[in-house]
Formats: sequence, C-alpha cells, structure tokens
Amino acid sequence: MADSAGSSRPSSTFDFVIAANRLPVDRVVDEDGNVSWHRSPGGLVTAMESVMADRDGVWVGWSGEAGEAPEPFDEAGMRLHPVPLSEDEVQAYYEGFSNDTLWPVYHDVIVPAQFHRKWWNVYREVNERFARTLAEVAAEGATVWVHDYQLQLVPAFLRQLRPDVRIGWFDHIPFPPVELFAQIPWRAAILEGLLGADFLGFQRPGDAGNFLRACRHILGMTVKGDVIHVGKVTGGHDVRAACVPISVDFRSMDELARTPSVRARAREIRASLGDPSLLLLGIDRLDYTKGIRHRLKAYEELLKDGSLDGADTTFIQIATPSRERIDAYIDLREHVEGAVGRINGNYSAIGSPAMEYLHQAYGREELAALYLAADVMVVTPLRDGMNLVAKEYIACRHDNGGALLLSEFTGAAEELREAFLVNPHDIVGLKRAILDAAHASPQERSRRMKALRRRVRRNDVQHWAGAFLDALEAAPNKPVRPVRKPTRDHTHEEH
Ligand code: ADP
Ligand code: F6P
Repeated sequence: MADSAGSSRPSSTFDFVIAANRLPVDRVVDEDGNVSWHRSPGGLVTAMESVMADRDGVWVGWSGEAGEAPEPFDEAGMRLHPVPLSEDEVQAYYEGFSNDTLWPVYHDVIVPAQFHRKWWNVYREVNERFARTLAEVAAEGATVWVHDYQLQLVPAFLRQLRPDVRIGWFDHIPFPPVELFAQIPWRAAILEGLLGADFLGFQRPGDAGNFLRACRHILGMTVKGDVIHVGKVTGGHDVRAACVPISVDFRSMDELARTPSVRARAREIRASLGDPSLLLLGIDRLDYTKGIRHRLKAYEELLKDGSLDGADTTFIQIATPSRERIDAYIDLREHVEGAVGRINGNYSAIGSPAMEYLHQAYGREELAALYLAADVMVVTPLRDGMNLVAKEYIACRHDNGGALLLSEFTGAAEELREAFLVNPHDIVGLKRAILDAAHASPQERSRRMKALRRRVRRNDVQHWAGAFLDALEAAPNKPVRPVRKPTRDHTHEEH
C-alpha cells in the first residue's frame, strides 16, 4: 500500500490495483436478512485469487448484488473495493450489453446477439464509474490491471483521469474475427476504449490477431507487428497486443488432490454411484458456449446403441448456476435438465445412475475429489477463451491417470495437444473420441497425462501473471501528452 500524503486521493491508495466486473466473493442475503459472502463463479476469479494471494493490492469490482455498495473491506489478505450497480444497471450493463450483446458476439454468435442503445449507454456509464473508482484508489504511478469484456472502456476513461498510471487489460474470453466484431454498432468506441491501455493480453495468438486486424480495418490504424500506433486517439502512445495464455495454480491443486481426505472422498464418490466401470465428468458454468447439449447427445447415443452400458457407466455433470435471468440460459437449463431426466429414465439402474446432474457450486476440495475420481474429463465448448477446468483436471491427476477429452475450440487446446481433441459439432467424432478416451490403455493415458502435467506445471498461473506484468512494464512507451476524452457515443458516426 502506498502513502499518498499531500495528494487529494484517499489515504489508502495502492501500487497494484485490479478491476474486474465481480469481486472474488458475492454478497448473499438469506431470507432472514443474514449476510454472507460466497466465492464468485468463473475462471477469472480462480486465477486472480491466486495471483492476489502473493501481492499487496486492491480488487475493485461489483459485489454481485444490486443496490448500494458495501464499504471497502478486507478478505483473504486482499482489500476489496465494491462498485455499486443499481437493478437497472445489472439488467442493462451486466445481463444486457455484457452477456447478451458482447458474450454471443465474442463466442461466434452461438446464439443471436441483442443490440440495444440503452444497454450500450449504461455499459459506458458503468465503465466510467469503474474508471473513477480506480483513479481514486491507484497510487501515483500504480499498475492497474483491468479484466475482461465487461470493462473494455475503462482503459481510455482511466488514462484520461490518471495519465500517470500503467494500464493493462486482459481478455479472458475470445476476441472475435473482425467480420463478427464489426456487427457491433459501437465497435469503434470499444476499440478506442481498449486502446487507452499500455498492454492488452489475449488468450490465443488468434485473438490478439483479430484485435490487431480490427484496429486496422475499423479504425484505420497503423499496426506494426503486435504494436498499434494510436497517436490520433490517445495523444501519442503505442499499444502492444499479444497472447499471454492464462493458467491454474498447479501446485496448490496438485497438493490438494494428494491430501488423504480428498483421495478418500474420490473413492467415496465412486462408491456412492455403485462403483461404475467408467466415470465421465463435466464441470462447467451452465452456459451455452460449453457444449453441454452436444456432449449429452453423444452420451445418450452411445447408451442407445449399446456402446456404453448405463448400469455400469455414470456421467457426472456439475453445472454451476450462471446468468439465470437471461433467456438463452433459461432455455439451456430446460434442455439440459430434460435430457438428463430422459437419459436417467431410459438407462439407469437402481443404485447405478447413468447421469448425476448437480446444479450447484462446490468447494475446491470437492472439485479436486471429483477430478481425481473421473476416468474421462469431458470438456466440449463450442468456443471458450481458455477453459481452466481442463487445466485443473490435469493439475489434480498426480496419479497420471484419467483422460482429458478437449474441444479444439478452447484456448486450452492450443497448448494441451496430448488431450483427446474433438470437434464437438461432429457428434460421430465426439462419440468416437469418448470411446477412445474411455478405452485407452493405462500406459497410453499415463503417457498423455505426464506430458500434459509437465506443460501445465511449467505454465502455471504465476507464470501467466508474471508474463502479463512484465509485458505491461515493458510496453512501448508511456503517453507524453494529455489525452483527448474518449469517444462518448459512436452511434451517430456509424449509422
Ligand atoms: P468460465 O470462466 O467460463 O466459467 P473456466 O473453465 O475457465 O470457465 O473456469 C471455471 C472455474 O470455475 C474453474 O476454476 C472451476 O473450478 C470453477 N467451477 C466450475 N464449476 C464450479 C462449481 N460447481 N463450483 C465451484 N467452482 C466451480
Ligand atoms: O471469463 C469469463 C467470465 O465471464 C468472467 O468474466 C466471469 O468472472 C466468469 O466468466 C463468470 O461469469 P459471471 O461473472 O457472469 O457469473
């Protein structure tokens, strides 16, 4: 923490500041009015929790509940600084523009994106609020690390308020090809918002490439290698956009999975399902990008054609509740729960369920036990920035057992080449890959898992954070002139 005596900023300012839509914990109030804090869902929180554990800094984000923000507080060795969102803002900024406009466009338009000017206006206002909060808590010359698609305008707003700070932004999800990105009516304003940063990190080289192409084609900017010259927008600074793939805390997952209690729990899980010969596992937020429908279709067909025996096989699908008021998520839940009921009705035996479906959040120990128990981890997203679940599975398999079935359309597939790679749209190929993974010999599984573990151990979350922060520190140059105000609204320029 830095001492800011003599400045107009609050007495507690920080040299290291992160901003994400969510805090790492959500505020939950029960029917009796009791308040508790629960771990927030998603890969961003998993990754940044471990990064912040080693650093003195502040995390700026939303508490997960509409209304006034709680006072800043300390949790798990971190200062948490809540940003308020009203109920209307939750609908327009979070559920609307972030998750019903940007999320579908950035994930290949698996469901149609909705474009509403009101959502955009609120998104911009909330981003400006985040930037103002960051400007208050950042010490002179601080490093500010902004996360994800919900906060793409923050870099330019913040640069305008605080030209002294170093600004990085990391994209946890894919960045779409320019042909899709160009559908967004406010595409230029989004790019300009991001270009307020010094360094922009992406999951895959292809994502960074898509962003660079968008700058060239939509803003007409000069791009040399991975550097964009943005003089005309932000007053003479260059921005670098490069790939820095995120990872998991390998050592802590590995250690956790070795504990006697987790190993015993893994055995208990199998026993409670009637000790099936084959245990398949899926762990995802209940999101249409994760390909849960595709994997259930393939599994159901394998049971139907007799390739798998429902009385001796169990598929555990953990589906974390997510974005439950958005139509596409409501439809997905109905579809998945219908499929689970049908599969169980047709193929289970008493004491040996063909499917175990759990729409709940779990602690790290339980997840580690599930990973350790599963013969095949089924990861089939239609598009995913990285997919940390795949890497967590690897980190937990200290026994070099288990097989990872992994969609080609995840960022993880770029690194994890020894997984059983699949195209989830190809149901025949998916069925074949499930059987290949299920029937692979122990030697084959061990060979693949050893190679996967070597890679994830080396490229763990600390490596990722170090690489990102080094790149931010080394980013081309700091702004030399005051910057012009970020574009307020591009609607009139583009229509
Ligand atoms: P996304 O960020 O899209 O949700 P990732 O696979 O990258 O997907 O990250 C998901 C993270 O959430 C992982 O760290 C995983 O362990 C965690 N997680 C997933 N399901 C649950 C659950 N039911 N309970 C607790 N944590 C979960
Ligand atoms: O990176 C994917 C992501 O959207 C994160 O930004 C977020 O923390 C996570 O998934 C969970 O989503 P949500 O915050 O909407 O529940």
